[in-house]
Amino acid sequence: MVDDLKQQIMANGQPLVLIGMMGTGKSHFGRMLSKALGLEYYDSDTLVEEKAGCAISEIFARWGEDNFRSVEAKTIKDCIDKGVCVISTGGGAILNADTAQNIFANTLSIWVDAPVDVILQRVKKNRNRPLLACENPADVLQELMQVRRPIYERARFKLESGVTDADSALRTVLKDIETYLRQNKTE
Ligand code: S3P
Repeated sequence: MVDDLKQQIMANGQPLVLIGMMGTGKSHFGRMLSKALGLEYYDSDTLVEEKAGCAISEIFARWGEDNFRSVEAKTIKDCIDKGVCVISTGGGAILNADTAQNIFANTLSIWVDAPVDVILQRVKKNRNRPLLACENPADVLQELMQVRRPIYERARFKLESGVTDADSALRTVLKDIETYLRQNKTE
């Protein structure tokens, strides 16, 4: 099934782009997808960190969020321009209107969603999330989610993380992609 799907994805020509809140597992699922399909994998946070030569928390502290956002937008555009591959993006990437437009018009977009309590458990262990390095991460998370949810919802596919095991969540989204590509095949 995966070989057929890879062929369909190659024929479609668009990258698979994972969007969604921090701590939902975008990078984890991105790597799983890239391995399952034998496609190149790019992680926008990692690429931005490589460009800056330091961690995201330091980029925010030294140059501010706006600066991070503009490097992030350019990084994601360059990845999308590569064609078929798997890209995971930072949770706030879709706040940039051009990035959102590009993702929703030109990619197989996948919203990775997870229950808030699962997200909070996961981000607690990680200090590299400056937006949640505060007294009340649960409130901040809810506020961010309120603004972002309507944008994430525009994604073509949804991957439910933290509800079932990762393998079955992945299998479900692969099946959804296969069905979509079969129905939207251009001869
Ligand atoms: C952010 C999410 C982070 C990272 C930065 C900002 C956000 O990426 O880009 O800390 O605004 O939600 P992850 O979603 O990979 O944690």
